Order: sequence, then C-alpha cells, then structure tokens
Amino acid sequence: MTTTARAQGATVWLTGLPSAGKTTIARVLGSRLRAEGHRVEVLDGDEIRRFLSAGLGFSREDRNTNVQRIGLVAEVLARNGVLALVPVIAPYADSREAVAKRHAASGTPYVEVHVATPVEVCSVRDVKGLYARQAAGRLKGLTGIDDPYEPPLDPALTLETDLQTPEESAASVYAVLSARGLV
Ligand SMILES: Nc1ncnc2c1ncn2[C@@H]1O[C@H](COP(=O)(O)OP(=O)(O)OP(=O)(O)O)[C@@H](O)[C@H]1O
Ligand SMILES: [Mg+2]
Repeated sequence: MTTTARAQGATVWLTGLPSAGKTTIARVLGSRLRAEGHRVEVLDGDEIRRFLSAGLGFSREDRNTNVQRIGLVAEVLARNGVLALVPVIAPYADSREAVAKRHAASGTPYVEVHVATPVEVCSVRDVKGLYARQAAGRLKGLTGIDDPYEPPLDPALTLETDLQTPEESAASVYAVLSARGLV
C-alpha cells in the first residue's frame, strides 16, 4: 500500500438540528476521503448512544456528557492521524467549546461545521419521525422545538442544506479541509 495520504488527522464536528443533514453529509464526505486514501471514522450520534453513551438520557447534563465522551474519542482519533467526522447535534455552546478546548490543548485540528437547515425544513424532512411524535405529544424535549439549540456563533463553515444537494454540502466541507491543509 502506498502512503501518499498525509497522516494529519482532524475532527470535523457537524452540529445542527435533527434531520438537518449531518449524517448524510458525513457519509458522503467520508466516502470521498476514504477513496483518496485517508483514514476516516464517522462517530454518529445514534450509534454512540447505543454503546459508549448507553444509559444516558436527554437532560442537559446527559447531553453534555454524551458530547464530552464523543469529543474525547474524536480527539484521540484525530491526534493519531484519523479524520474523525462527527455528525452529532451537540446543542449546547459550552459543550462544544469544551471539546474545542480539548483539541486545542493537544494541538489537534478541530473544524466546527454548522449544518444550518431551518427548523421548518427539518420538520418536513423528519427522517426519524421525531417532529411528528413531538407534535402528537408523544415526545418531549426535541432539540429545536421544546429543547434548546444554541447555534454556533463562529463556525468554520455554515451549510444551507435547503439550497444544496448533499454532494454540494460535502464538497463545501472538503474545501475547508483543503484550505487548511488537512486533505
Ligand atoms: N444538502 C443536504 N445535505 C444533507 N442532507 C440533505 C441535503 N439536502 C437534502 N438532504 C436530506 O435531508 C435528510 C437529512 O437526514 P440526516 O439523517 O442526514 O439528518 P441528521 O442531521 O443526521 O439528523 P439526526 O440528528 O436526527 O441524526 C436526508 O434525507 C437527506 O437526503
Ligand atoms: Mg444523524
């Protein structure tokens, strides 16, 4: 195997509302990066909640704990040359800030991407039926509806996915990585 791809890792955190497009963009981007020879891990919120964060709920404290655990794993991977793609809601600014600081402390690149799909569009996409369940009174504490989402104030990139295809959104993230010399 050739080792032309540089072993510079980074964490790319895709934050946004449920159904914003985080997982879709991470998958498209991940495929492209793997095809180019990069080592890639996608740390998806749903999978993580089944093992690393099993037992955690959706209180503010548990949501923060979930994000810190994922942030720790991402930082370890990124520090060791992996591109860690993290499509996780991460609704609280202070939680994301702590993850960014953890990366800064080890000099590991951290790229925050706001998947800024308007809630009106997310609730129509409703990939997992969460918005419908909330509207029917069968779910409480849905981020962006009856639980807070604190949008990033200074993300590396903001994606308007209602105006783009997933491929275009993934290409925008790729361009940021490229501009920073990470790919
Ligand atoms: N530009 C775009 N980028 C990403 N997804 C898009 C875009 N345009 C349309 N979509 C569609 O939006 C939906 C997004 O679903 P996805 O599961 O990726 O959301 P998510 O942010 O991961 O949600 P959750 O937080 O519930 O996991 C998909 O059906 C996808 O095809
Ligand atoms: Mg997802």
